[in-house]
Amino acid sequence: MKSHFILFCANPINPTEVDEDFSNEFLAAKELGFGSLLVNFEDLTNEARVSFATKRIRTADQVSQVIYRGWMLTPKQYDVLFNQLLAKNYQLINTAREYQNCHYLPDSLQFIESRTPRTIYQRIENEQNISDLIEKTKMFGNSPVIIKDYVKSEKHHWHTACFVENANDQLKLKSSLDKLMELRGKHLNEGIVVRAYVDLSDLTTHSKSGMPLKEEYRLFFCNHQLLGAYPYWEEGEYKTVQPDLNEWITLAKQVESNFFSMDIAKTKSGKWIVIELGDGQVAGIPDRVEKQLFYAALKKLLPM
Ligand SMILES: Nc1ncnc2c1ncn2[C@@H]1O[C@H](COP(=O)(O)OP(=O)(O)O)[C@@H](O)[C@H]1O
Ligand SMILES: [Mg+2]
Repeated sequence: MKSHFILFCANPINPTEVDEDFSNEFLAAKELGFGSLLVNFEDLTNEARVSFATKRIRTADQVSQVIYRGWMLTPKQYDVLFNQLLAKNYQLINTAREYQNCHYLPDSLQFIESRTPRTIYQRIENEQNISDLIEKTKMFGNSPVIIKDYVKSEKHHWHTACFVENANDQLKLKSSLDKLMELRGKHLNEGIVVRAYVDLSDLTTHSKSGMPLKEEYRLFFCNHQLLGAYPYWEEGEYKTVQPDLNEWITLAKQVESNFFSMDIAKTKSGKWIVIELGDGQVAGIPDRVEKQLFYAALKKLLPM
């Protein structure tokens, strides 16, 4: 009996195999001795079919911990997954509450507020909410801001749906909000956040979208211990060999989640800030990172 399991998304066409995008992770996890399970993501994210999502997973004799590595889920979908798995004796590393703590920026703020740009947010259900958000945005005066939903930005549409040079420019703000909502469509997560824009240390510009890339690192923490700190972007030369990690290790102790990512960035003035947290189960492992090294580091942080 394996003591730790990784739950991957199944290939949508061949449900007994892993989703191709996760095949490297699947192999790495196997090599490191993890057991593996598959969930059908299409079923999990379709209310009419959700009860079939874990049908290929057999009930285990004893309770084991499982870590999901797959596509992003809403906290509601995650909760369904959590309960389906528990009924089969597999316990996900984070509860739905813990998942949401790092998945939704408004929920993360309580842990990172002192080290992240000033942020306001508004749940979006109707036109009035947009007006309320525009009203709240006035606190940023003439300063630049960036906008995103509770989880994701449209950063590859930087100039039309993410960066707003002057928060007071109502026309530009409204058109960027409209564009963000149009691009996110039905995938808009809950609401919108507006954040003070901070000048970050330049790396390069994205070769496809032209988005400015900055000196950013993605840190992973498991059971409140640092798993790894990785250059975030696959392009550009990182000038800093390794940022000082002590303050982030300290900050991470307060985050109510057992597995999460923390993205940090260097400002032009040399100070480091947190950009966002993410649940470790749905955060991408940066391309440059050897998957075997990631899973080896993960294994060391799990109880035997
Ligand atoms: N407050 C900010 N000031 C300056 N740049 C930012 C700020 N927030 C995000 N960025 C830049 O925009 C990128 C996308 O923002 P992020 O919040 O990480 O969105 P996503 O969830 O889509 O990754 C970041 O990687 C960073 O380079
Ligand atoms: Mg990000």
